Amino acid sequence: MAGRIEGRVAVVTGGCSGIGLATVRRFVAEGAKVVVGDIADEAGKVLVDELGGPEVVTYVHVDVTSKEEVDALFKTAKDTYGSVDIAFNNAGISPPDDDSILTTELDAWRKVQEVNLTSVYLCCKAALPYMIEQGKGSIINTASFVAVMGAATSQISYSASKGGVLSMTRELGVQFAREGVRVNALCPGPVNTPLLQELFAKDPERAARRLVHIPMGRFGEPEEMASAVLFLASDDSSFMTANTFLVDGGISGAYVTPL
Ligand SMILES: NC(=O)c1ccc[n+]([C@@H]2O[C@H](COP(=O)([O-])OP(=O)(O)OC[C@H]3O[C@@H](n4cnc5c(N)ncnc54)[C@H](O)[C@@H]3O)[C@@H](O)[C@H]2O)c1
Repeated sequence: MAGRIEGRVAVVTGGCSGIGLATVRRFVAEGAKVVVGDIADEAGKVLVDELGGPEVVTYVHVDVTSKEEVDALFKTAKDTYGSVDIAFNNAGISPPDDDSILTTELDAWRKVQEVNLTSVYLCCKAALPYMIEQGKGSIINTASFVAVMGAATSQISYSASKGGVLSMTRELGVQFAREGVRVNALCPGPVNTPLLQELFAKDPERAARRLVHIPMGRFGEPEEMASAVLFLASDDSSFMTANTFLVDGGISGAYVTPL
């Protein structure tokens, strides 16, 4: 039986860990060829071997804040597999020195803006010409539930960067809708990945404080995000663009949660 994205070519940034990794695995299982861009070169090599070698997956070292490297990533997809059908612009960071606005310094602010927001601008700018030429394509940008809700446990630059990703996604979705290119934002709730584990390892109380607000009473799993990304990448979501796709265990709909 054919997969849901059989024969499509996908680019995934941050594909060596967490949500990106689960999505690369799912995309391959559903018949896609995938080009993974990350800075985790060892993990990238292991992943290519795990998933069947260069016929199916190619790893490219990419710092998503570099225009040259991002352009080369998308060109690799076109040159190696013949098209750029899906772009999952997902790489992001959540460093501990990004905290309350009162203690977050300009360097920490700028670093997060570069990796989380400028990167998505660069990836969309690189992917769109291929997709416009094909008259078809699906871009999924990873924002976050913090793009639509405020938290007293602040990470000020992270939240602002994700708000930027969401607004940019909406605008691109509107602008390119009649050219066959769909652009949607995945807004995960807290997901059980190294990014979240690192953040909460230093502060279990903060983790517990967040858990209280999730109606389902647990963090999400990367595979649950991969299912949502697959939906947005595939023709199953063909009438969706410029969308804020919240996959958050009910957080954004909750006022009082069960005990
Ligand atoms: N985990 C969560 O709770 C959560 C919630 C909402 C949104 N998100 C977002 O989901 C995305 C993925 O997060 P995750 O939890 O899977 O994180 P993760 O830390 O498990 O994986 C992130 C990946 O991005 C890569 N990366 C980091 N900086 C890079 C750079 N400059 N260039 C290229 N690659 C780089 C890392 O090497 C890693 O492989 C991020 O954008 C994150 O902000 C995560």
